[in-house]
Amino acid sequence: MSNICFIGAGNMAQSIIGGLLKSGSRKESIWATARSEDKRTNLADNFGVNTTDNNVAAVEACRIIILAVKPQMMFGVCEEIAPYIQGKLVISVAAGISCESLEKWLGKNAAIVRCMPNTPSLIGQGACGLYANANTNTLQKQAAQAILEATGKAVWVDDEALMHTVTAVSGSGPAYFFLFLEAMTQAAVEQGLDQHTAQSLAIQTAKGAALLAEQSDDNLETLRKKVTSPGGTTEQAILSFEHSGLRGTINKAMAACAERSKVMAEELS
Ligand SMILES: NC(=O)c1ccc[n+]([C@@H]2O[C@H](COP(=O)([O-])OP(=O)(O)OC[C@H]3O[C@@H](n4cnc5c(N)ncnc54)[C@H](OP(=O)(O)O)[C@@H]3O)[C@@H](O)[C@H]2O)c1
Repeated sequence: MSNICFIGAGNMAQSIIGGLLKSGSRKESIWATARSEDKRTNLADNFGVNTTDNNVAAVEACRIIILAVKPQMMFGVCEEIAPYIQGKLVISVAAGISCESLEKWLGKNAAIVRCMPNTPSLIGQGACGLYANANTNTLQKQAAQAILEATGKAVWVDDEALMHTVTAVSGSGPAYFFLFLEAMTQAAVEQGLDQHTAQSLAIQTAKGAALLAEQSDDNLETLRKKVTSPGGTTEQAILSFEHSGLRGTINKAMAACAERSKVMAEELS
C-alpha cells in the first residue's frame, strides 16, 4: 500500500495506526503529524512511525492522507494542505463534516472518503461507515476500506445522507449498550448480587449474545425466541420490555441522534 500520513495523531489516529501495524503495514510507510514534541516522541516510541510537526511535508511524502483532527480544526488543516493533495486520496474521520464542505476547502477535484468510526476501534472491534465522493476511484476505495478494516468492520453507504443513520447506529451505538449494561448491573445489584459479579455477568452476556448473533445462521428474532420459552422466565422480561415501549424508545432515541448529526453538520459547514 502507498505511504499513509495522519494529520493529527490523537486517539482515533493511533487506533488506526495500531491496527495497520498489526495487520502488516510497514512502520516506515506511515507518517503522523503532531504539534507538540512530547506527542511526536510518544508516537515514535510506541509505533516507530515517521513523525513531524510539518503537515505539508507529511502530505508531500504520502499518497493517502488521513485527516484525524477534531472537526473544529478541520477547516484550517484543509486550507493548509489543499495545494498539495492533487492525485492523492484524502480520508476524513471527522464526525459531521460533509464531503461538500471538504470539497469546498480542499478543491472540487479532491478524492475524498468520509468515515464514521466508533470507539471500539481503539481495540480493533470498531464498526465504521464509509462514503466516497465521485472523484474517488476504485483503487482508492479499496485502499480506504483496507485501512479502516484494520480497526474492525468497514461498510460503505452510497448516499451520504445515510452517514447520519450510521452515526445513530454505530457511531453513538456503543453508548447505548453501555447504558443498557449500567441498567442491568444496577438491577442485579438491587436484587442482591455484588457490583463486580453483576457487571461481569452483564458484560459477558452482551459479548456472548453479540458473538452468537454474528456467528449463528439464525436471525435475531429466532435467536431471541430460542431463549424465550413460552411460560418461562425470559418471556416475562421480554413482555415487560414490549409493554413499556422499548422499541419505540429506541426508535425515538436514534431519530434524535440522527437529527443532531444533521444540525451539527450544518453548523460545521
Ligand atoms: N475518538 C473517537 O472515538 C472518534 C469516533 C469517531 C470519530 N472521531 C473523529 O476523529 C477525529 C479525531 O478525534 P480524536 O478523538 O482522535 O481526537 P484527539 O485525540 O484530540 O486527536 C486530535 C489530534 O489532532 C492534533 N492536532 C490538532 N490540530 C492539529 C494541526 N493543525 N495539525 C496537526 N495535528 C493537530 C491534536 O494534537 P495537538 O493539539 O497536541 O496538536 C490531537 O492529538 C475527530 O474529528 C473525531 O470527530 C473520533
